[in-house]
Amino acid sequence: MRNEGNALFESRGVSRGLLICSRAFAASTLLAIVSIWLYRCVHLFAHNNHALVWIGMFAAEVWFGLYWMLTQASRWNIIYRRTFKDKLSYRDEKELPGVDIFVCTADPTIEPPIMVINTVLSVMAYDYPSEKLSVYLSDDGGSDITFYALTLASAFAKHWIPYCKKYKVESPCPAAYFNTSAPPEEGSEDWASIKDLYEEMKNQIQSVTELGGISKELRLEYNEFTQWESFSSARDHDTILHILIGVSSDKEVKDIDGCTLPNLIYLAREKRPQHHHNYKAGAMNSLIRVSEKMSNGLIILNVDCDMYSNSSQSVKDALCFFMDKEKGNEIAYVQFPQNYENVTKNDIYASYMRTISEVDFHGMDGLGGPLYIGTGCFHRRDTLCGRVFSKNQTTSNYWNRGNEHRFLEEASFDLQERLKNLASCTFEKDTQWGNEVGLKYGCPVEDVITGLSIQCSGWKSVYYNPERKAFLGVAPTSLYPTLVQHKRWSEGDLQILLSKYSPASYGFGRISPGHIMGYCVYLLWAPSSLPTLYYCIIPSLHLLSGNHLFPQISSPWFIPFAYIIFSAYAYSLAEFLWTGGTFLGWWNDQRIWLYKRTSSYFFALVDTIGSLVKFSSTTFTITSKVADQGAYQRYKQDIMDFETPSPLITILVTVAMLNLFCLAGLVKQLLVDFSRTFETMAVQIILCSFLVLINLPLYEALLLRKDKGKLPSFVTVISVSLALLACTCFTFLN
Ligand SMILES: *[C@@H]1O[C@H](CO)[C@@H](O)[C@H](O)[C@H]1NC(C)=O
Ligand SMILES: *[C@@H]1O[C@H](CO)[C@@H](O)[C@H](O)[C@H]1NC(C)=O
Repeated sequence: MRNEGNALFESRGVSRGLLICSRAFAASTLLAIVSIWLYRCVHLFAHNNHALVWIGMFAAEVWFGLYWMLTQASRWNIIYRRTFKDKLSYRDEKELPGVDIFVCTADPTIEPPIMVINTVLSVMAYDYPSEKLSVYLSDDGGSDITFYALTLASAFAKHWIPYCKKYKVESPCPAAYFNTSAPPEEGSEDWASIKDLYEEMKNQIQSVTELGGISKELRLEYNEFTQWESFSSARDHDTILHILIGVSSDKEVKDIDGCTLPNLIYLAREKRPQHHHNYKAGAMNSLIRVSEKMSNGLIILNVDCDMYSNSSQSVKDALCFFMDKEKGNEIAYVQFPQNYENVTKNDIYASYMRTISEVDFHGMDGLGGPLYIGTGCFHRRDTLCGRVFSKNQTTSNYWNRGNEHRFLEEASFDLQERLKNLASCTFEKDTQWGNEVGLKYGCPVEDVITGLSIQCSGWKSVYYNPERKAFLGVAPTSLYPTLVQHKRWSEGDLQILLSKYSPASYGFGRISPGHIMGYCVYLLWAPSSLPTLYYCIIPSLHLLSGNHLFPQISSPWFIPFAYIIFSAYAYSLAEFLWTGGTFLGWWNDQRIWLYKRTSSYFFALVDTIGSLVKFSSTTFTITSKVADQGAYQRYKQDIMDFETPSPLITILVTVAMLNLFCLAGLVKQLLVDFSRTFETMAVQIILCSFLVLINLPLYEALLLRKDKGKLPSFVTVISVSLALLACTCFTFLN
């Protein structure tokens, strides 16, 4: 508890009673885990003909137990934060620092320009002094359509921002605003006219997008397009830099009320085929350098182009942490959760990742800070540039220093050229960029290692998860993109574990052991696929031959197994409901948990091992942000979409069919001798029935459905054959 008074924020743990309960519960679970290990040790060699199978079971249980211990670290000290924004405005309005906002986009076909400019407009409309806000759009696609859209957006902003101020629009993303709200009672004329303006802009962008390029007439109208003369492809062009709105330059633009607008800058850094561009980290580092010579805001916010701001207060919220007199000077970044606009109530693809957002990250916060997840995060500029934490700095001077406010005094040709050089391919050669300075290179999830190295140099970070969600993105509305996304994440995480930034070695002695454990929960996602697959396949197969791999019901060893099964599910259900989820949502979450582990993580592991022995190289895939209408309809009705034929889906279907066959085989034995079969194989029966039950939507897609989201017959044939083959071989060999 913090005392009231000057503090700008407050941190609160969970109540004492709850804490004691959950720790007592954890202790009992630990006891059960140890008993299970003991059971395996004692019986390991009692089954001579199945010793290998038993060793496998034991290995899987050791893994699950240890992994569970890791997850307990982030449940040890859960922290919730609250800010006092009114105190901020009362105290420091004049001293407020400049804030630079980086929006990153990479490909105009999967990230449509209209979506990009909606994000840009939403962050331009923050409730914050406009002359202190600068918005930079980094366009790695170097697309003239995106640039054209941004030009239109800068004109629209002159109307939109005064409108948001006048009517106190809290969710300043135009698309979302016009989508959800009916005309307000007050000011419905203004509403209609601003909506018309928006529609007009949208149509203009749409027609250019459909045309696939900028027409000759437009090129003549806007001479900025001359910068595209050197452009030969998205991977081969000069730096394109354009200041659309710039305070204290000749481009100063006022809105219709005569107020200043935030700066708006477009940047497409130089790209050459022979130079590696380092994905988003490379783009961010170019922006850090270019913005330093322009607005040089002390705080940097970065958002992905598909995550619009749904709250005009987020900048002030973040500043409450940085500018707090007592604790602020040790905070390096403030991470907001990644939330989604289109998540349905029961969230069939578990996009929200409820336990991570609502529990784990709060726990990481208690251990020293959440992971940096690459979007919706406010950073101090200097820590991002590698400054090491020192206790002796004083906060008050720090914020004043930032108010020198040097925007392009004159937009001279020389200066423009110098700025462009900062975004060139060769600038970083022989510098520490990507290593000691800026975002780190060499890993698909560069954000996480950047955050980790900031924490390792002594800084704290904060997870702020307000009731009203600050940033909203678009969630995948089909199974395949969900699996691909998780494959990418888990693969990147595993690479961190194997790299020089592994928390276990790099973080050792620099951050607390609990914090290292918290990181490892994510970094060990991919390897946890093997024990899960083992547990989903082997016990079920052994149902066919009548081998029992677990204790009988009458044995005292049955108790720890029963306790774990019951308690693990009761706990996760309670946690899920407590954080506001629904029962069906939890059930769906369990299914996706299984699918991620048996498919995404498994292929991530295979690919990582493949690239270690130089079989395959990892490729960076961006998941599409454009939803197909049919898929979206099914998503809204909570119907899963399996349509893409891919190994990611085949493996799921194979495991599901295998369990169905095993359960069918079991029925025969139950008919012969019900009580004995059940007595000896209860746990296996429960496990197999659970797997069949959770896969019901999959069987339905395979057998009953006729719509486009059903299982492709190609996948069905392969999976069914594989599952049958496995069952027959197994029975035969036994
Ligand atoms: C998101 O939801 C809104 C309405 O809830 C809908 O109009 C829009 O098309 C959806 N967007 C996507 C990409 O699915
Ligand atoms: C986004 O903002 C609107 C108000 O404009 C609010 O009603 C809604 O709850 C917010 N969304 C989330 C997910 O918090």
